[in-house]
Amino acid sequence: MFDRKPCVYLVGRDYQIIFNTAEHGIAWVEVDGKIYPDERNGLMRSETTVHRAVVPTAVLDATKKYAVCFRALPERKPYWPQLGAVERQEYAFRPIDWSDGLQLYHIADAHSHVGEVVDTAGYFGDRLDLLVMNGDIPAESKTEKDVLAVFDIAGSVTGGERPVLFARGNHDTRGKFALEFTDFIGTDEGRTYFTFRTGALWGIVLDCGEDKLDSNEEYGGLVCCEPFRRRQTEFLKRVIENRQSEFQAEGVKLRVGVCHVPFMTELMSQSGEKFDIERQRYAEWTALLNEMGLDLMLCGHMHRLYAYRPGDPMMRYGANFPVLVGSRPQFVRPGEEGQNRFVGAALEAKDGRITADYTDNLGWRERALDLPGRIGL
Ligand SMILES: [Fe+2]
Ligand SMILES: [Fe+2]
Repeated sequence: MFDRKPCVYLVGRDYQIIFNTAEHGIAWVEVDGKIYPDERNGLMRSETTVHRAVVPTAVLDATKKYAVCFRALPERKPYWPQLGAVERQEYAFRPIDWSDGLQLYHIADAHSHVGEVVDTAGYFGDRLDLLVMNGDIPAESKTEKDVLAVFDIAGSVTGGERPVLFARGNHDTRGKFALEFTDFIGTDEGRTYFTFRTGALWGIVLDCGEDKLDSNEEYGGLVCCEPFRRRQTEFLKRVIENRQSEFQAEGVKLRVGVCHVPFMTELMSQSGEKFDIERQRYAEWTALLNEMGLDLMLCGHMHRLYAYRPGDPMMRYGANFPVLVGSRPQFVRPGEEGQNRFVGAALEAKDGRITADYTDNLGWRERALDLPGRIGL
């Protein structure tokens, strides 16, 4: 039996359709009569309730519908296993509709709140092209239920019918379920940093990992982000080496960076010295990103709203792209008075212009950025 609606994650040149089931069993996705199995090394995965099938963007963009399929398997016997009947759920899929430009909604820092976040992210209604979930979606990854907040939000906002981009945040890395967290999101074979491409949009997702040094006592030795970040430096260099098939590929008109932590800004020192880490590495990342002609970098993490253009004194390391820090959760604690409020960012790219507005679940809206003449859309 299917549990929640699927999430269609954009990674590389594929959609990774992830869906959960109430019991163990085998699963696959069908697109236009073709089967995309949830398999590993030639074997159907079954000892899990989280399934992933990978479909090329070109296939799903053309077909515009898919079906998730499942057969329960109570016991994985070595011979003659007894499978349940085929369960099948069909979904329509609407790829990015470029006829009215790109409408992207950005959320981060939901910290396990769902209702207000869903209301906020519904800003574009049916015009939504891409939902960006930029980290700290669960408060921590203590249990599977925490992690399923990702599906509760994405399922309600997209209904499994629009692409979702997920960048991991530092709170997603905390708790008993933190290692399994990547089973629930789109990744490059487990890696939480990758590039993506669909139509005229190209982008890069980076993951700073934790926000303090690995040696911080709070982590008790469970965090090892320094070598993880070092691997991302090499990844950034590879993206530049492959520029012709990445950000300079034919047809790319809009280039977006997504990273939970705004490492390329002075905001890093705002909350105290212990958060201002890895200056040398982040300077190198920024120099490498500067090669990519990014039109915008999307960040969260600060729980406040900021928008900077290149040259702003709040920008670090000579970043040559605008930065939007687009999430502000304001949730009332038990016993407190007031209304829950969640601010995200509505981004539109059309007529050569990128605009971003902060919007919330109560109908408030404020212009954050207006970038004319940047893009060929
Ligand atoms: Fe946060
Ligand atoms: Fe954060």
